[in-house]
Amino acid sequence: MHLLILNGPNLNLLGLREPALYGAQTYAALCQTCEDACRARDVTCTLFQSNHEGALVDAIQDAYGKADGIVLNPAAYTHTSVAILDALKAVHLPAVEVHLTAVAEREPFRHVSFAGLACEKTITGQGFAGYVQAIDYLAERYGASNGQGA
Ligand code: DQA
Repeated sequence: MHLLILNGPNLNLLGLREPALYGAQTYAALCQTCEDACRARDVTCTLFQSNHEGALVDAIQDAYGKADGIVLNPAAYTHTSVAILDALKAVHLPAVEVHLTAVAEREPFRHVSFAGLACEKTITGQGFAGYVQAIDYLAERYGASNGQGA
């Protein structure tokens, strides 16, 4: 099983960025957490981060025929991007939306998620553990639909 793990704008600045909200750990540490979680479940992954909406759309399109699922934190584009929503609908891969923070408890403009409309599940407010939960969900789903463990 192969997953695309996609992160949007400013998540490359984890550690520096509003640590009271996003924590002290870096984007490299997030990648390590995801890689370790995938390896433990016998899953391979492609990790990609971009500050550019079109690059995120390209990565979703590129996942078609290559990945069995997508874990994504579109960051600020969550709340604005119809293009990311449309890309997810186009490739029709099982997707899980993750947010480090509890977006529903933050400013009203963060309560809207376009990408979430094309996701099977949304996990918020769990920090890095949310990504591990998303990997677990997609690995179990893949195992169930292929009549085996992940
Ligand atoms: C975020 C929440 C978004 O509202 C924000 O723009 C981000 C990060 C999160 O992980 O909590 O950049 O997606």
